[in-house]
Amino acid sequence: MNIRLTRREAIKLMLSGTAGLALPAFPAFATLNSSVEYRRLGRTGLKVSVVGFGGLSIALGNTEQERVTLLLNQALDRGLNMIDTAECYGAPDQNQSEILIGNAVGHRRHEYVLSSKVGHENGQFGQGDDWSPESIERTIERSLKRLKTDHLDIVHLHGANLETLKAGEATEALKRAREAGKIRFLAYSGSGERVRYAVESDDFDVVQVSLNVFEQDVIDELLPMTRKKDIGVIAKRPLGNAVWRFEQRPEWGWYAEYWDLIRPLGYPFFEGEALKDPGPEGAAGMALRFVASTPGLHTAIVGTTSPGRWTQNNANLSGGPLPEKQYQSIRAKWLALWAENRQMG
Ligand SMILES: NC(=O)c1ccc[n+]([C@@H]2O[C@H](COP(=O)([O-])OP(=O)(O)OC[C@H]3O[C@@H](n4cnc5c(N)ncnc54)[C@H](OP(=O)(O)O)[C@@H]3O)[C@@H](O)[C@H]2O)c1
Repeated sequence: MNIRLTRREAIKLMLSGTAGLALPAFPAFATLNSSVEYRRLGRTGLKVSVVGFGGLSIALGNTEQERVTLLLNQALDRGLNMIDTAECYGAPDQNQSEILIGNAVGHRRHEYVLSSKVGHENGQFGQGDDWSPESIERTIERSLKRLKTDHLDIVHLHGANLETLKAGEATEALKRAREAGKIRFLAYSGSGERVRYAVESDDFDVVQVSLNVFEQDVIDELLPMTRKKDIGVIAKRPLGNAVWRFEQRPEWGWYAEYWDLIRPLGYPFFEGEALKDPGPEGAAGMALRFVASTPGLHTAIVGTTSPGRWTQNNANLSGGPLPEKQYQSIRAKWLALWAENRQMG
């Protein structure tokens, strides 16, 4: 069954948070540019737009408030209803994602599912994580203020290690926040053994994982389990940071790693005319359609600082799910490279 709802219906369903529409393994997309596809975020029952908004870029780009206000309000008007941010997107002396989002759309809070994260009260991911219950409580309170709301729909343990997950204190802190009505659903964001542990523990209703044409390991290693347990799945970096845009190798982190994979993967949509095509058959369209065609994926939180981008990406889904042959060809190229690298490593 394909879910196509008007914005009003989606908000109503989202607020009810319970309706359990079953989705097919290979969902069909909306076919008109103006329509928006919403999927049920696993057992949370929340209905979320397949194209969501990721709040990292606006912080990395130190984006001005006016721009964020414009792009988010425009996207909400057109059907976006999934917004993801984090406690640590934005250095303390820069424009921080949670504050930008709260200022931009806090007054329209009932229109979107809001997701944030805990674990880095000091605002620096990977530096000085703090998983103590006290820090988690303070971080949630701060997020509520910054985002101008009295509750967060989804809160992730942001990359917590296995030791933290097994100790259970951080998870218990989230559960207490849920009991207090400050958050609705527990989530885990991370990879590998940690996210598998989180899924197996059954404490988390949602996971946020890397899923894009460059990183496909979760498709075989995690999604069969999330589907079985009806856990909501959010794809982070769904466009692989759109690295095909760079002529030179970017210097930082994931951008460089993804960029290095373009040539060995040899996807035709990262070559020639497709690079300039902004539509469903172009680089961005194909990359997003691949993610959205993946069984078990519910929402892809594309990062952007550009007003109009959400509309473009949503319209790209009007190209429909990738034909099975094309989808499998992207999988086969990636699996071959993955196997080769494993052998070398
Ligand atoms: N949990 C975690 O540890 C974690 C880690 C990383 C990311 N995340 C989440 O995932 C979200 C998405 O990741 P991300 O922002 O790093 O990467 P991404 O969504 O894969 O890529 C974002 C980049 O793609 C560009 N873009 C978007 N649509 C495009 C299009 N149609 N054509 C060309 N370029 C396009 C954007 O540029 P414009 O500004 O020009 O649109 C932006 O620079 C984050 O914002 C964050 O919410 C979570």
